[in-house]
Amino acid sequence: DMAVVARSGSLLVRKFRDLKEKKKAQHKDWELAGTKLGNILGIKKKDDKEDPSVSEEGDFKTSQRFAQHMEKKNEASSDFAKSKTLLQQRQYLPIYAVKEDLLNIIRDNNIVVVIGETGSGKTTQLAQYLHEDGYSKYGMVGCTQPRRVAAMSVAKRVSEEMGVTLGEEVGYAIRFEDVTSEKTIIKYMTDGILLRESLRESDLDGYSCIIMDEAHERSLNTDVLFGLLREVITRRRDLKLIVTSATMDAEKFSHFFGNVPSYTIPGRTFPVDVLFSKSVVEDYVDAAVKQALQIHVQARKGDILVFMPGQEDIEVTCESLTERLEELDDVAPLTVLPIYSQLPSDLQAKIFQKTPDGVRKCVVATNIAETSLTVDGIAFVIDPGYCKMKVFNSRIGMDALSVFPVSQANANQRSGRAGRTEAGVAYRLYTLNQYKNEMLVASVPEIQRTNLANVVLLLKSLGVQDLLKFHFMDPPPQDNILNSMYQLWILGALDNTGQLTTCGRSMVEFPLDPPLSKMMITAVEMGCSSEILIIVSMLSVPAIFYRPAGREEDSDTKREKFCVPESDHMTLLNVYQQWKANGYSSTWCNDHFIHAKAMKKVREVRAQLKEIADQQKMPLVSAGNDWDIIRKCICAAYFHHAATLKGIGEYVNLRTGMPCHLHPTSALFGMGFTPDYVVYHELVMTSREYMQSVTAVEGEWLAELGPMFYSVKESAKSRQEKRKAAKARVSEMEEELALADEQLKQRRAEM
Ligand code: CDP
Ligand code: MG
Repeated sequence: DMAVVARSGSLLVRKFRDLKEKKKAQHKDWELAGTKLGNILGIKKKDDKEDPSVSEEGDFKTSQRFAQHMEKKNEASSDFAKSKTLLQQRQYLPIYAVKEDLLNIIRDNNIVVVIGETGSGKTTQLAQYLHEDGYSKYGMVGCTQPRRVAAMSVAKRVSEEMGVTLGEEVGYAIRFEDVTSEKTIIKYMTDGILLRESLRESDLDGYSCIIMDEAHERSLNTDVLFGLLREVITRRRDLKLIVTSATMDAEKFSHFFGNVPSYTIPGRTFPVDVLFSKSVVEDYVDAAVKQALQIHVQARKGDILVFMPGQEDIEVTCESLTERLEELDDVAPLTVLPIYSQLPSDLQAKIFQKTPDGVRKCVVATNIAETSLTVDGIAFVIDPGYCKMKVFNSRIGMDALSVFPVSQANANQRSGRAGRTEAGVAYRLYTLNQYKNEMLVASVPEIQRTNLANVVLLLKSLGVQDLLKFHFMDPPPQDNILNSMYQLWILGALDNTGQLTTCGRSMVEFPLDPPLSKMMITAVEMGCSSEILIIVSMLSVPAIFYRPAGREEDSDTKREKFCVPESDHMTLLNVYQQWKANGYSSTWCNDHFIHAKAMKKVREVRAQLKEIADQQKMPLVSAGNDWDIIRKCICAAYFHHAATLKGIGEYVNLRTGMPCHLHPTSALFGMGFTPDYVVYHELVMTSREYMQSVTAVEGEWLAELGPMFYSVKESAKSRQEKRKAAKARVSEMEEELALADEQLKQRRAEM
């Protein structure tokens, strides 16, 4: 039996403080080193004197002049969305003017590529037009999105435009959340959902039209769907396929589907003044905050959109913006709103809400706001030029999430966000030289840079034998395919000849990454499926804990009480079990700084995964008090992500020797308890390589479960004992031989 140890909150508080101090220190360094940049971009502190070194030719001056000019121009313009009905808004969209043209082309062709600037109405209108033209009589109109947030928010918007209840005529489906019904005729979904649907129904007979939206994003699942739908359309003459893209690479899509027609929606955009930083920006968070403040204090009305690579930067930006606003005298209110995919959906919806008159909005977003979401009223864009991407790292043999410069195409999309409803300004926190020389023209499609294990598993079960021959628009590097197959082989999903095994067939059934599916299957064999089901569900839901500003210590103390020192996975299990013991109470969640909504979601995910397990006749068995078996089961799925202790608090990847660190939020961090071996869920690269979701494992387990990677090295002592044992056996044998010899002699004598 393992005791759940309650610890004081002080430790976590210190860890977080250290992390924050480090960030702050970074900012300070920059302030000393980058005075010039500070002058160009910076907002002056309250007591700062006018700095004579500010160049008259600086961006700062330019933008100010521009702002004054625009102020006059826009004074009369009213907030369009506020004063117009939904119908009027629909009719104002650029796509409305070409509705009949578009429908005619679609009537005459099975596949059409539609190009239009972001905000022209592709996502919200096309599906409705197809429905109005009668296609929904023969099946659903489906529309795929690379991002979950987009699928949800667009479905909501369209249901409002059509005056129906979300989930009835208009619905959406994302992983673990199906808000559709018998009545549904327009269905928004992630591309991953449609891909999985093709497993059950390879011709997608339920659909009369499929809109592959945001094709320019080139998400992994969209790229795979391209290949599959290209085949489906040859079998189904009645299916309409519409591929939409925000950028002008129509030719490539058109060519892929056999030179099909493309249609460009004439745009209606306003001029955007693009300003480059004059020198290299050291700390983009700090620079962005200063720029946002400057706009807020000095510029005309109009909302601000700040791009940030990821959640952590977004949080720091929002916090720092709010802090610095408080330091300034006499400033108008500013509503600061974060948006990223892991943010709970009720908070995500806030970015679309209108702020009261005279209150400026500042949205801080990941590249989710680049093309998938359109926030009206943005007049200022601040673009640090970075985004987070999952990239297969051949050095470590797996995917790692890291920050990279965006491509020129991304940068231009971002700037364009400022000119949707009026003329705007885009502040680029990088130099023109960086833009020209350090940024790729277009970004690399996901299929060419990530682990393909999931795709390989899916295609294999769809009967695609030779993946190297599958028709990809941009084939992934052969090494990537082979490596992914290798990973599936390691997990026992493929046999030595590359065929799907029984285990692999079972793994496909779960809408999970292969290691998690594997964990579910192993759990049944090991007798801990009840617990693993909860752990897997907890891992499938965004952040459980929150730390409200001003109550950090309080929330950390509460959080630490859940820690199981051996394992972050078990810590998650512990949270769920305590929540269950408290009657799945929301109040209990709030008391412990746990997102009640997220926990509810976990419960739903658990129910859905259980259903799949039931269908596969996989029984739920509890490990009871044997918590070691749970860790062993985690080890069985993640032995390829193993690290070993090197120095104090320092781990290195067991196979590659690459350093990797415990994250300060890990239950194992700084506890004085440092296991020799750990496995981890994934690796995140920020300032250093962090392991996320870590569990302590025994060395022997690694050797037993991952024999292709590890073996047990004998210690000197055990070698000695073995030698002794061998010697003893030899003399035993000699005695036996002598005895036999003796007996032989006797028998001879008797004869
Ligand atoms: O797909 P595309 O970028 O061409 O445009 P869209 O997403 O269909 O957006 C058209 C318009 O619908 C936007 O300009 C927004 O005004 C509005 N919209 C909204 O208000 N709320 C949403 N969740 C989505 C769109
Ligand atoms: Mg769209």
